[in-house]
Amino acid sequence: MSYPYQITSYEAYKEAYKQSIENPEQFWGGVAENFTWKKKWDKVLEWNFTEPKIEWFKGAKLNITENCLDRHIEAHGNAPAIIWEPNAPDEKNRLLTYKKLLEKVCQFGQVLKNNGVKKGDRVCIYMGMVPELAVATLACARIGAIHSVIFGGFSAQSIADRLYDAQAEFIVTCDGAFRGAKDIPLKNVIDDALIGNHTIKKVIVCTRTRTPISMLKGRDVWYEDEMKHVEEQGITFIEAEPMDAEDPLFILYTSGSTGKPKGVVHACGGYMVYTNYTFINVFQYQPSQVHFCTADIGWITGHSYILYGPLSAGATSLIFEGVPTYPNAGRFWDIVDKYKVNILYTAPTAIRSLMGFGLGPLQGKDLSSLKVLGTVGEPINEEAWHWYDEYVGKKQCPIVDTWWQTETGGILISNLAGITPAKPSWATLPLPGVQMVLVDEKGNEVLDEEGSDTVGGNLCIKFPWPSILRTTYGDHERCRTNYFATYPNLYFTGDGALRSKEGFYRITGRVDDVLNVSGHRIGTAEVENAINMHSGVVESAVVGYPHDIKGQGIYAYVVFGNTHGDETLTRKDILQTVTRIIGPIAKPDKIQFVSGLPKTRSGKIMRRILRKIAEGETENLGDTSTLLDPGVVDEIKRGKI
Ligand code: WTA
Repeated sequence: MSYPYQITSYEAYKEAYKQSIENPEQFWGGVAENFTWKKKWDKVLEWNFTEPKIEWFKGAKLNITENCLDRHIEAHGNAPAIIWEPNAPDEKNRLLTYKKLLEKVCQFGQVLKNNGVKKGDRVCIYMGMVPELAVATLACARIGAIHSVIFGGFSAQSIADRLYDAQAEFIVTCDGAFRGAKDIPLKNVIDDALIGNHTIKKVIVCTRTRTPISMLKGRDVWYEDEMKHVEEQGITFIEAEPMDAEDPLFILYTSGSTGKPKGVVHACGGYMVYTNYTFINVFQYQPSQVHFCTADIGWITGHSYILYGPLSAGATSLIFEGVPTYPNAGRFWDIVDKYKVNILYTAPTAIRSLMGFGLGPLQGKDLSSLKVLGTVGEPINEEAWHWYDEYVGKKQCPIVDTWWQTETGGILISNLAGITPAKPSWATLPLPGVQMVLVDEKGNEVLDEEGSDTVGGNLCIKFPWPSILRTTYGDHERCRTNYFATYPNLYFTGDGALRSKEGFYRITGRVDDVLNVSGHRIGTAEVENAINMHSGVVESAVVGYPHDIKGQGIYAYVVFGNTHGDETLTRKDILQTVTRIIGPIAKPDKIQFVSGLPKTRSGKIMRRILRKIAEGETENLGDTSTLLDPGVVDEIKRGKI
């Protein structure tokens, strides 16, 4: 192997980074030697950012599940691949060894085939955090079907849009899901989503909550019955479908600055190589460690760092069904104690919300197994960073602040635990192969300045890494205009950042109309569309404002047709509408009724002003002279909530 796989010193990081920039093909070719390929590549990389067209490990054949499962069987088939901790602490937990997980994945792969799923078909997965979710996802990959996992908090309407966009033909779901004190009727939501749908042929339903549901003859089948049938046939193994390195592995929908969510597409080969490489290096994973990533598999963090990264490394990945505050705010610490968790990877929002409960919930919990802590999804404020360091890590555990996106597939900027320097609230250095640049509004590169400690700009990347998105499903032009057209020959992240003299990056937040609420990406346009669906709403404008726990809160200015009604009730109605159209995660925290919105003469809403007012700024609103009716601003300021 030409490159040491695990970077074990700052010097080695610098050397690996240098080599990855000077000779990317040799570097990634070396990294890729560590996987099981059915056929090696003809060329490591071919690319241009204009179309864009990006091909990694061109001509290679592989199946990611062979790398996540089969290749570990000989050495540690009896080691736990997945530990499952249920929502209620008194329910029995479950453990799946690598051998067992492989068997289940093969059996469910056969179930999918029996139900007509073929290579390339899109399978939507809408389940709670149960082991069968991991099995279903990996089973798709096993047979070459494209999975599209949808987070269990999305509404029927959101699912319907995604099913249509992906032209999905199959769904795997559960009767319901347990989340804290709630019981979410997943199958009923799916039934609503399927009204008027013409593409779905089969719905496979896994039992979890035993909520009464309706099973449609010919369309709906039980997960357990189908599995039993395959078991009775004596099937315990199926061959993994040979996939082209560039074949799509999955679609994951995410919000952008325009109306509808985009189906981000990741390819089999590059995604596998990069999630494994980053898992091992960022967290400094050591064999047989227990890794607890608290994200939901419905988000990219769960895809990459509950499933593919840890499993391809042979780690034990902990799947937790519940929420951090149920039955009390000590739940994470109980889990760490119970399973001797070594790596804990969570979101700043979770840390901030647990901080609010004080130190009581930590008392008497043995956290000494922890070696590495991580955060993801949003900027972490220094206070939360220090709390995490002091009370969870007991100042013994490096904290990795990992910056990345659904589109990047894996972590792009982060310190390497205990290897490269950490700096509170800074994501610090790019990983090997990641070539960041900052640009100004016009697209000129921002260079370090003599005499100033930091420079700032819009965060872009000038060279592909293996797990960069390949397209947005069914609409390549949308991928080009969204990510590759703002600045020529650069991938634009949508984030702003600062860079220090040492080359460390600090992410300052989105510079487009995307909000980050509790680490979840929500487009302001999406929320506005949902609010506008309410029959009484004339128009609306949505902005973000700083929120102590969620990072950002959602502030909606709403022009309502009939202002004589009960405002409190109308507010509730609007929240209900947003829940129906998108899901509870997009509910505005504040709704202010206004008689008009500040607009330019050409009819454009001046969001800058609305953002400032929502942030509590009343004086320096900038230039308001281009407004059609400046009077509206005073009214909005007076009515601020
Ligand atoms: C934000 C989540 C600051 C950022 C993996 C990015 C962060 C968006 C960090 C992607 C971090 C993610 N520090 N901000 N460590 N990590 N972000 O697609 O704005 O759900 O563009 O992927 O989250 O969110 P997504």
